[in-house]
Amino acid sequence: MTSTTADGPALADEDLPGKGSGPARDAGDPFGADTLPAPRGATRALLVSLLTPMRARVAVTSLLLLLQQAAVQAGPLLVAYAIDRGVPAFRDHDYGPLAAVGIGYAVCAVGAGVLQYAFIRAAARINQDVLLDLRGRIFRHAQALSVDFHERYTSGRLISRSTTDVESLRELLSEGLQELVGVLLSFVSISLMLLWLDLGIGAIAVASFIPLYLLVRGYRQRAAKAYTARSTAIAAVIVKFAETMNGIRPVQAFRRERANDRDFAVSNHDHERRNGDALLEMARYVVGSRLVANTAVAAMVLWGAYRVASGTLALGVLAAAVLYLRRLYDPIDRLAMFLNSYQSASASLEKIAGLLAQTPAVPEPAEPKALPPVAGEHPGREVTFDGVRFAYRTGGEVLPRFGLTIPAGQTVAVVGSTGAGKSTLAKLLARFYDPTEGRVLLDGTDLRDLATPELRRGVVMVTQEAFLFSGTIAENIAIGRPEATPEEIEHAAKAIGAHDFISSLPDGYDTDVRKRGGRISAGQRQLVAFARALLADPAVLILDEATSSLDVPGERAVQRAMGTVLHGRTAVVIAHRLSTVEIADRVLVMEHGRIVEDGPPAELVAGAGRFAGLHKAWRESLA
Ligand SMILES: Nc1ncnc2c1ncn2[C@@H]1O[C@H](COP(=O)(O)OP(=O)(O)OP(=O)(O)O)[C@@H](O)[C@H]1O
Ligand SMILES: [Mg+2]
Repeated sequence: MTSTTADGPALADEDLPGKGSGPARDAGDPFGADTLPAPRGATRALLVSLLTPMRARVAVTSLLLLLQQAAVQAGPLLVAYAIDRGVPAFRDHDYGPLAAVGIGYAVCAVGAGVLQYAFIRAAARINQDVLLDLRGRIFRHAQALSVDFHERYTSGRLISRSTTDVESLRELLSEGLQELVGVLLSFVSISLMLLWLDLGIGAIAVASFIPLYLLVRGYRQRAAKAYTARSTAIAAVIVKFAETMNGIRPVQAFRRERANDRDFAVSNHDHERRNGDALLEMARYVVGSRLVANTAVAAMVLWGAYRVASGTLALGVLAAAVLYLRRLYDPIDRLAMFLNSYQSASASLEKIAGLLAQTPAVPEPAEPKALPPVAGEHPGREVTFDGVRFAYRTGGEVLPRFGLTIPAGQTVAVVGSTGAGKSTLAKLLARFYDPTEGRVLLDGTDLRDLATPELRRGVVMVTQEAFLFSGTIAENIAIGRPEATPEEIEHAAKAIGAHDFISSLPDGYDTDVRKRGGRISAGQRQLVAFARALLADPAVLILDEATSSLDVPGERAVQRAMGTVLHGRTAVVIAHRLSTVEIADRVLVMEHGRIVEDGPPAELVAGAGRFAGLHKAWRESLA
């Protein structure tokens, strides 16, 4: 593909999750929502497919976490042993038990540290690999999706998928999951330990889980709402910001600053309020959970003290129980954080799964056919539109049963009023879309049967928005044929009339276009795009308003180049400026998706049709 129709990454209004009511949008269009529908279980399948290749490492890492938890939980038990056995033995001059406790405690502490270190390293590696894989998948998948997808799913949303959403998964994997597993393990192990130490004391702890559970459940529901509202509000702030800065020229030209300030303040305040709501939910949860925890500890101490006094409970056991209980409730505040990161990560993963479930509207053929060798001495190929009907997914029929044959080597100019369907015709020929009905053929082979590399070699389209990639001018020209030599690149630039301006740049062909992006004019960009197309040497060349930014001498140079270098190639030239038509063998006038006039330019000019009228008006405008 020599040129693309993509603009830069721009956040548009439809980037808002849940919003998206552009005029071209159906009410039932799933693209209106931030989350694309994915098949059932796709989210889980995605997670499984990410973790499966490293299941051995996941198992080892989980084992490390289990051992680390065991080492940590041994502490209070050793304290109980020290108080109940070690101290009495010490009084009898038996230092063994207390020394054993001391050594055991040190081993556990050091062991827990070492295990934690090993776990963090192993988990971080898994985490990094998962994210690397996921980001790569998003990029490859999105790049492979058809133009049709990208026109509806804005680049702003794609960027969010591979940054914000991947990031929220990272948070969950790196901090959240460790936290959750830690909390769950300590809940189970501590409960069992307490029940084992003393049934009554254990029962108090277990009973306190009921109000805690209710609290967590209530928080989850309310927080989900609060956080969704918050993320919608922040998206609105970002969209407003990006829209203003992307359109800074019209903003300043039409003095929109004041109105924008007002709009921005509204979104900004709304976000602040939503953020406050979310924090309030969190505060309520924290206060509630501490209340439950402290009540449980108080109950345990009261009852435990009574039993120690009446001799039915060892003091050491009570001390251990209180230590355990504190440890049990400690991570509960953090559980709320975990729930948040879990919620946002699962929403993110769902969005990513929805994106990855999209299939290209223009699929690769299962059994690609090779094009026949070029017939005759000309490098061009015959193009046929055979009963083609076409409608964009969001709109009425643009081409109603369209038939056209362009013999190999012919240059056809297509003219017609705005919205007639000229660009649509070009995009079908370059297979950015497939016809709704009928076929587009290249030397008798359906475009749908051609492998993408063969198709892109055969058909090249240059559009109005000559897009330059980051890199040097030479690299930009060579995109159509990466193996081209510097001489070939220069030759192509010379043929098109781009050599002079390129030589006048500070580094000539090695000038970095991004660093000078602003200083390469629209016309110069078009020249580079032309040189690129020339070098790609396609059998069929499509020019859609490709000379619109050139001055008259520039356009003439391009026409001359096409006359010589592209001689014998099939060319479809779409232009509003009729000067372009002079190089054509044949002119097609298109209206409402139909060809209303078709013939050699001289014949049409001499006639009394639409083209004759257009041509007359154009000649008069020149005089
Ligand atoms: N991506 C799209 N999604 C939906 N409708 C589209 C899309 N692109 C074009 N259309 C519609 O299809 C019709 C034909 O558009 P097309 O771009 O082919 O016209 P055109 O002849 O190239 O016009 P112009 O001379 O202005 O470039 C128009 O009504 C347009 O609104
Ligand atoms: Mg057009």
